[in-house]
Amino acid sequence: MEQTLTQAAPVRRQRILSGIQPSGTPTLGNYIGAMRNWKLLEDEYDCLYMIADLHTITVRQEPAKLRQQSIQLLALLLAIGLDPDKNVLFFQSHVTQHAQMSWLLNCFTYMGEMSRMTQFKDKSAKHADNVNCGLFTYPVLMAGDILLYQANLVPVGVDQTQHLEICRDIAARVNGLYGNVFTMPEGYYSKVGARVMSLQEPTRKMSKSDPDDCFISILDGPDAVRRKVRRAVTDSDGEIRFDPENKPGVSNLLSILSALTGEKVDALAESMAGKGYGELKSAVTDAVIGTLEPIQASFTQYMGDKAYLESVYRSGAERASRIAERTLSKLMKKIGFVGR
Ligand code: TRP
Repeated sequence: MEQTLTQAAPVRRQRILSGIQPSGTPTLGNYIGAMRNWKLLEDEYDCLYMIADLHTITVRQEPAKLRQQSIQLLALLLAIGLDPDKNVLFFQSHVTQHAQMSWLLNCFTYMGEMSRMTQFKDKSAKHADNVNCGLFTYPVLMAGDILLYQANLVPVGVDQTQHLEICRDIAARVNGLYGNVFTMPEGYYSKVGARVMSLQEPTRKMSKSDPDDCFISILDGPDAVRRKVRRAVTDSDGEIRFDPENKPGVSNLLSILSALTGEKVDALAESMAGKGYGELKSAVTDAVIGTLEPIQASFTQYMGDKAYLESVYRSGAERASRIAERTLSKLMKKIGFVGR
């Protein structure tokens, strides 16, 4: 009998792009909600992770600090285990197509659309002395980030859904005018990964721009972790129960513990029923320290090897700009610019 060899069609894997701003050190919330999930995607998707340095200058940055935080963020991405061969890791500012694309897309975006962005309203209230045009058109830069790579999926937090919606609107508009230029991206909301809340105001998301005792940084040492968890806001009824609405502080601690141990919040609450908040806090402290210690050790090693970091970001920029250039020149041609 003749053997038929059925060759599997070479399916292009779905492409993922996400970005993280190097403004401050990432928090435990960034780690649980975003970064550690990236590791889980690297074998199934073509992933690009961008350090969104261009985005940070919508608010004033101290040059030396920005540079330091950017390098540290790269070292952290490696420290959490992202394989730089499987994932394209790069600095946004190294791929000049981002700035170019952002100009083009600015001309396909309406003032009205941008004015409706809740993050713009929040940030312009917070930085009233510096409501610059970049802050206003920030979602356009972000749309370009995504569209340049023809990304299918974009892992983002819920605070970015409005920006992703605008990105889709812009893509649809450009595609409507010029034919298929852009892949229509979709949000990727991971199944695991709780939303981590502020330790001091547990109804708000944990944020690195809040006062120091509100968040745990990925680089916080054991003493800082112990102190911050000990001081975390709870409530006065003394019962360990998962109830985010009425018991936001305790529920936040339970969900951090759950995210780090893999046990369900309800199971944890049950196993701790009758115990005091002190015990819950010490379990959280142990879990956090146990998670962060190996990451920090690896981070320190990467930070000690500048040549390696350089090789990672150089090759990342090269791989990224090859893809980005294809999309950029396609759009420029469609718009009517003379090719170089
Ligand atoms: N704006 C995102 C944030 O502040 C970061 C970001 C920039 C991003 N470009 C992106 C996220 C593209 C996803 C895709 O969190």
